[in-house]
Amino acid sequence: MKIGIDRMAFATTNEYIDLRELAKVRGVDPNKYTIGIGQDQQAVVPPTQDIVTLGAAAARKLMTKQVGDHLSTIIVATESGVDNSKASAINIKELLGLNDYVRAVELKEACYAGTAGIQFARGLVALHPQETVLVIATDIARYGLQTAGEVTQGAGAVAMLISATPHILAIEPTSVNLTKDVMDFWRPLYATEAMVDGKYSTNVYVDFFKQVFTRYQMMTGRQFNDFAGLIFHLPFTKMGKKALEGALGDRHDQVATRLRTALTASQLYCRQVGNVYTGSLYLALLSFLQNRQVNAGDRLGLFSYGSGAEGEFYTGIVQPHFLDHTNDVQAMLQKRHQVSITEYEDMFNHQLGMDEQDVEFDLSNDHAPFVLAGQKNHQRI
Ligand code: HMG
Repeated sequence: MKIGIDRMAFATTNEYIDLRELAKVRGVDPNKYTIGIGQDQQAVVPPTQDIVTLGAAAARKLMTKQVGDHLSTIIVATESGVDNSKASAINIKELLGLNDYVRAVELKEACYAGTAGIQFARGLVALHPQETVLVIATDIARYGLQTAGEVTQGAGAVAMLISATPHILAIEPTSVNLTKDVMDFWRPLYATEAMVDGKYSTNVYVDFFKQVFTRYQMMTGRQFNDFAGLIFHLPFTKMGKKALEGALGDRHDQVATRLRTALTASQLYCRQVGNVYTGSLYLALLSFLQNRQVNAGDRLGLFSYGSGAEGEFYTGIVQPHFLDHTNDVQAMLQKRHQVSITEYEDMFNHQLGMDEQDVEFDLSNDHAPFVLAGQKNHQRI
């Protein structure tokens, strides 16, 4: 039985900044951001958006009556959850008007949890092949104004249907996981911004990729030439380059060129949105599928990484007519509007944080399908 990704959709905020402008205001050479880090634009989050509104906006694009009728489970993967107890999957289920007879849970392990959601969904579908599982990877990457991590922020959600009729990617059985207790990036319960040992985190990432990919090669006998593309978790686009170049070394043959070209296609959306944590690998997959000549039957390798740290390498086979089952991300990104650095800083400072006061947001400028209206009696509206 084939099991895998049947449909995918991405949603982000309607606002973004140009990172050349941010560089100017921060007194940094713009080439550091656009070449050194590899980012051009970054999604900006107004106080009226959170992981629930973004997750619901992405999932809404996948919903039909038929999908709703077969849905057994909603898994939301996030590391920027809005409640320490209640699963945001329940909020999203309600916003989408889905049937009450579903299971709804939230998963956490930094950026890796989206992949965990997909693998758990595969198990559920294997037990009940007629059922569909909705996996939503939704996050807001927030490091703080004027920090080294600022240029690697971002926000967005990727929603995916996992079923036994995968129209995008049939996932193959072999995968390799690696788990080690590492303090490269974390967020204590009292903090709204991530803490990070930045350079160390990039080294751990590269090392994890090397370890899982080498083990995968030993287990399967497959080599680079078995892949049409390697898709990476992209906290920023340069990270994927570091991992791929670390593995390819000074190879410049046809296979190495193919993988480098594939990487460039997978980076296009991340360049314009930034890190979307749990969804980053899947935004890279969408970027690759929509910007590279891909054929049905091609094998893709996916490297998922979550700080803390967890890595997984797994593979999938591209299915016929896969593009018909994705939303046009570039068209959506072109409809966003640019905000100034002052406006971005203002929005950043007015997010609902640890504050327990009631608040009502001005919704007049928010044209998103779902909005956070405020907070009353400790409940988000
Ligand atoms: P930094 O202090 O800006 O680093 O932090 P830098 O000064 O070394 O500069 C970065 C690069 O720009 C360097 O290139 C410079 O040479 C280059 P590299 O050596 O890395 O190839 N550069 C220039 N290039 C062109 N023109 C110039 C110029 N100046 C400098 N004029 C860092 C960068 C990424 C560490 C920081 O932004 C950060 O801490 N980000 C957050 C952490 C992160 O994203 N880590 C990634 C791995 S961990 C991960 O992926 C998990 C994560 O997604 C979270 C999760 O799992 O939940 C983060």
